Amino acid sequence: DNIFHKELTEPALIRSIFKPRNEFSHKGNFGHALLITGSYGKIGAAVLATRACMRSGAGLTTVFVPRCGYSILQSVAPEAMVMTDENDEHLSSLPGDLDKYAAIGIGPGIGTEEATQKMVSFIARRYTMPLVIDADALNILSLHKELLTHIPADSILTPHPKEFDRLFGDHTNDFDRLSTATAKAAELKCIIVLKGHHTIIATPGRQIFFNNTGNAGMAKGGSGDVLTGILTALRAQGYESEKAAILGVYIHGLAGDLAASKLSMESMLASDIIEAISLAFPQIY
Ligand code: APR
Ligand code: MG
Repeated sequence: DNIFHKELTEPALIRSIFKPRNEFSHKGNFGHALLITGSYGKIGAAVLATRACMRSGAGLTTVFVPRCGYSILQSVAPEAMVMTDENDEHLSSLPGDLDKYAAIGIGPGIGTEEATQKMVSFIARRYTMPLVIDADALNILSLHKELLTHIPADSILTPHPKEFDRLFGDHTNDFDRLSTATAKAAELKCIIVLKGHHTIIATPGRQIFFNNTGNAGMAKGGSGDVLTGILTALRAQGYESEKAAILGVYIHGLAGDLAASKLSMESMLASDIIEAISLAFPQIY
């Protein structure tokens, strides 16, 4: 039809997007990723996003958390660099110069405190490179809808249906969400990743991709934070946003499928999806 062009994400498309590593490469070739994540009681979201980012090939990963997250991150993610906010419990400032990072992911577990809202609003207005925007960062955009028109072009937004409705108004079903996603991706010049059983990726050029990896074992707190880490890592490695979204959503679901086949859908955890990323990459070579 003429409203949008639809495609099912197929292994052949994934292979055409994937860039194998050059054997002479060094960490500078794979970018420095920054994750802006976590608040008191939700440092787990920062841990999951950070570990997923490192497991997905970023050259360097820095995570910015409130002070209460410092020891936790240094212990469970020793490969990452940790920067802390002056505030103990929630983010209220910026982690220095944002321009030195190849990619930035923002939102998992940050909460919606006033000071955190200001930080997100500043980044949405001032930062010019594409962002990966998830979870509470999306909820903060919903509280200040005028910010949506300011977010950098080619940013990747990753709402689940409730976050999607907070951003763009109530919908009764995913067919309605599909047409809103198409329209909004074009209007905001962003990639909208509407998460669900078949995650939908809507591009500014009105293309729609349906992902078919993933399973109900991923319907568990933390799975979404893992996706944010994967997408930020791919952006840091130089994948343009559209390709990062298609590839990242596919790998996330494939890792979920591998985790489920080993551990069962009931028992698998978001951390198990992260461990299975290692097994997912070889399947797309
Ligand atoms: N089939 C395939 N994939 C699934 C399924 C399923 N049945 N259920 C969930 N997933 C995938 C989604 O596609 C998405 O990538 O798992 C991920 C879940 O992401 P979120 O919904 O963001 O969940 P998460 O962030 O991990 O959980 C905490 O709950 O109330 C919300 O806003 C709160 O973001 C917070 C979230
Ligand atoms: Mg989420």
